[in-house]
Amino acid sequence: MVNVVITGGAGFIGSNLAVFLKSCGYNVMCIDNLSRSQERNVRLLSLKNIPLHLADIRDYNKIFDSMKGCDIVVHAAALIDVEESLRDPIPYFENNVVGTSVVTKVCVDLGVERLVYISSAAVYGDPVKVPVDENHPTNPLSPYGLSKLLGEHIVEFYSRINGLKYIILRLFNVFGPGQGISGYAGVITKFVNCLKNGRRPIIFGDGLQTRDFIHVNDVCHAIEASFKTKHVNEKFNVGSGNEVKIIDLAKMIMSIANFDGEPSFAPKRVGEIRFSCADISKAKKLLNFYPKLSLEEGLRTVFNA
Ligand SMILES: NC(=O)c1ccc[n+]([C@@H]2O[C@H](COP(=O)([O-])OP(=O)(O)OC[C@H]3O[C@@H](n4cnc5c(N)ncnc54)[C@H](O)[C@@H]3O)[C@@H](O)[C@H]2O)c1
Repeated sequence: MVNVVITGGAGFIGSNLAVFLKSCGYNVMCIDNLSRSQERNVRLLSLKNIPLHLADIRDYNKIFDSMKGCDIVVHAAALIDVEESLRDPIPYFENNVVGTSVVTKVCVDLGVERLVYISSAAVYGDPVKVPVDENHPTNPLSPYGLSKLLGEHIVEFYSRINGLKYIILRLFNVFGPGQGISGYAGVITKFVNCLKNGRRPIIFGDGLQTRDFIHVNDVCHAIEASFKTKHVNEKFNVGSGNEVKIIDLAKMIMSIANFDGEPSFAPKRVGEIRFSCADISKAKKLLNFYPKLSLEEGLRTVFNA
């Protein structure tokens, strides 16, 4: 049986991934310091009998002990709130950069077969063209984006020097059950929460800004595909390939909620990018990754969670 360790396994993506991989027959273990995890996701792991080691990814000795015997590491632990990172950047470098350097060094020292580093579209910054492919310049606009990019460099460094095999997945806006509401990533959860409480969703700016939303189930498939591909030491965008205006997203969610009204508007947020959409041709070709859920089907999973 293939042993997989997921850092950040008590988080939104990590916990969904743990359950998915277990159902595929992998032997899964999660590591998390619970600093940003949600009670629901911790309960889910325990319900599914998935072991969770309480450890901080900056603690080399603990991570080394926890990862002994594992074949594949999915490194998803990180602080992820863009706005918080602009206000208070140092923890982002400590958790995301130092943490990634520890996880990667442990992978080298234990001879782990493959490291899957969960990166972000935030490494691109404001796109000079959409859709964004993997060769697009990387100009992050926040300490969060910079920390994810530095993490990529650390992984690439250890591959070059020590022969570590890696895959970097640059995720676009992931959504689905179990997501928190911090940062822009949680916009769908925020809209759904507003509507469930009888309030109108709040749109920052004119609503014409676009994002590429990908359901967490599809992300899990992309991650599992990265375990098997022979195209190692590569970066892949993971998105839906569809560009959606925030105003249209709000309308779609309001329609699912049978909410007969208009969204409300608030001033545009500082540092927010205008347009975002992934070119996923490379992932289609080399990972055989084809997102399955339509946005509407995906939204219903959040609404019914
Ligand atoms: N959610 C998205 O839309 C999105 C988009 C692009 C990339 N990503 C990336 O996906 C990964 C997972 O994101 P998520 O949405 O599940 O976030 P999340 O906050 O739900 O999960 C992250 C988990 O990491 C844990 N963690 C943080 N610092 C830690 C540390 N020092 N030691 C141990 N555990 C620590 C937190 O407790 C949390 O449970 C992150 O690397 C993020 O950069 C997410």
